[in-house]
Amino acid sequence: MDIKYNLKSSRRTEQFQPEGNVGFGNLRTDHMFLMDYRDGQWCDPRIEPYAPFEIAPGAISLHYGQSIFEGAKAFMHDDGEIYTFRLNKNAERLNTSADILCIPNLDEDKQLEAINALIDVDRLWFPMQDGACLYIRPFIFATEDRLSVSPSLNFTFCVILSPSGAYYADGVSKAIRLLISKKFHRAVSGGTGASKAAGNYAASLRAGQAAAEYGAAQVLYLDANNQQIEEVGAMNHFHVLKDGTVVIPTFTDTILKSITSQSMLELGHILGCEVRQETIMLDKFIADIEAGEIVEAGGFGTAAVVSPVGSYIFEDGRVVTVGDGEVGPSIKRIYQIFTELQNGQLEGPEGWVK
Ligand code: COI
Repeated sequence: MDIKYNLKSSRRTEQFQPEGNVGFGNLRTDHMFLMDYRDGQWCDPRIEPYAPFEIAPGAISLHYGQSIFEGAKAFMHDDGEIYTFRLNKNAERLNTSADILCIPNLDEDKQLEAINALIDVDRLWFPMQDGACLYIRPFIFATEDRLSVSPSLNFTFCVILSPSGAYYADGVSKAIRLLISKKFHRAVSGGTGASKAAGNYAASLRAGQAAAEYGAAQVLYLDANNQQIEEVGAMNHFHVLKDGTVVIPTFTDTILKSITSQSMLELGHILGCEVRQETIMLDKFIADIEAGEIVEAGGFGTAAVVSPVGSYIFEDGRVVTVGDGEVGPSIKRIYQIFTELQNGQLEGPEGWVK
């Protein structure tokens, strides 16, 4: 791609040395990558100073939500270079989301080139602290100024970077409670559940508020018939059996294919346990927790890697505790191995870290 560079005149000149944990998603770097879709093709790749952009008040994304995004991370290794983790999987998934939302695909190599070029420009923004990363947020939104409901003819692809701190300041130490909701649903078959559509996240906010009323951090989403376990908040769900086997719900068109889950399915040999997918029936899941067959549970996602679940609460107030309700050894090990792979301290499968 012939990327045009319009860089800020006053740019960071030294590596970012923040005081205290910078948190997740709060900060921005100096620049953003932009590319437009018009006349049937992606064009005008450019890197510009991070700034608000102009958008028509009648833009389709603002009214009908034709907008998708991705989330990935880059890490600094001991050699001082910044490496992305499985970015090709994010590029592939952005196109899956694009298909579901009637957005034109953007060549995966071009997505990777765009992101790597932006990281290169803003590499001094990598925060120098333990467990830190550059969180990468690519997104596409419809820009055509039209109020009739049909796919936009014009789009913008944008990438922004957020210097972020360790998700867990002291390792994974606290297990959360989930509300098992039979009232709120994230997705139905034939809908947008398998995409990272902006609207899926807007629709989850009300459920998140309901969870808080039960003292829960998030909702455990069931399928529309309230039979099967699907997702947890913005993450994939998983549980661990007493022999250490990790079980993730089978991917369907109502589940977003988490890249952390996909990676786990390939990491059994490093973790020393079986990792498999199954349809998880809620009743059996609860019975297996109560019988001690299921000893740990949690969520997999890019932001946290793994989020341990200590207990579930039903809408009638019944509480089911997993194991002793604390963070179990499998989850600690998964977090450690995953972060070591990302930080280059452990060699993973070929091509994961680039
Ligand atoms: C993830 O952890 O995978 C996410 O998508 C998090 C994001 C919605 C903040």
